[in-house]
Amino acid sequence: MTASRLAVVTGAATGIGLAVARRLGTAGFRVVLLDRDTTALAALPTEPWMAEGTVLDVADPGAIEGAFAALAARHGPVGVLVNNAGIAAVHPFLEHPLDAWERVMAINVTGAFLCSQAAARQMAEAGWGRIVSIASISGVRASLDRAAYGTSKAAVIGLTRQMAVELARFGITANAVAPGATETEFVRRHHPAAVRAAFDAATPDGRYAAPEEIAEVVTFLASEAAAHVNGVVLPVDGGFLAAGVLGERSGA
Ligand SMILES: NC(=O)c1ccc[n+]([C@@H]2O[C@H](COP(=O)([O-])OP(=O)(O)OC[C@H]3O[C@@H](n4cnc5c(N)ncnc54)[C@H](O)[C@@H]3O)[C@@H](O)[C@H]2O)c1
Repeated sequence: MTASRLAVVTGAATGIGLAVARRLGTAGFRVVLLDRDTTALAALPTEPWMAEGTVLDVADPGAIEGAFAALAARHGPVGVLVNNAGIAAVHPFLEHPLDAWERVMAINVTGAFLCSQAAARQMAEAGWGRIVSIASISGVRASLDRAAYGTSKAAVIGLTRQMAVELARFGITANAVAPGATETEFVRRHHPAAVRAAFDAATPDGRYAAPEEIAEVVTFLASEAAAHVNGVVLPVDGGFLAAGVLGERSGA
């Protein structure tokens, strides 16, 4: 068993992915930042923990295996994979366009599957690995207009359990983190004021997460200390999934 200190984070040019990459960097990993956004990757200042930034669209099935093989040739085998790249589509169920459904599935589900498969082949050879996938509270609870997004995140949770069962014998764990609403470009695009107010009201601690709060939990799941944590879905959501109707607070 060799614990590789090379971590790969998809969708790492901004938001949660960038916060995860930074936190893994401070935990001593060399980190490869994968993203489809060439400009955003190029704009990142170089930091000592960065192994490289690589342009990769996780929705391009033909590119993934080769990209991971090339990374291994340059840096050694991947030890940690964080499946973070994801998009949302917001449409009422009756009008949800098929192309938006397929795009969400291609990135959020098939992309995570293929990156995990490519990374796990390297991890299995080394006898050690950590796969952490960014799911969502939307994979556990439904909300309006998220037929594709919610279904894709439920699939990420299913994929996580499947990998946990099939890969344990190779020394690989697979876990998911389910963020609640988190302050990134993603919510600035998808959460108008009324949606923000609804999330704040439905969240016991009444606020959005900072990306760094998600990164902290991902880094724990990627650590040696989490060796016996496998197949879980860990919400980082201020209590959103624990809650029912939140009325006015009573008493003094
Ligand atoms: N922000 C939230 O409230 C929230 C809540 C729950 C879950 N999530 C999940 O967390 C993850 C990151 O979200 P975020 O808020 O940081 O999003 P973001 O939109 O701010 O950043 C996503 C990054 O992924 C990259 N990306 C998108 N499609 C890609 C592809 N096909 N290939 C490679 N890179 C791609 C983008 O270029 C971008 O850099 C997503 O999977 C999202 O579903 C976010």
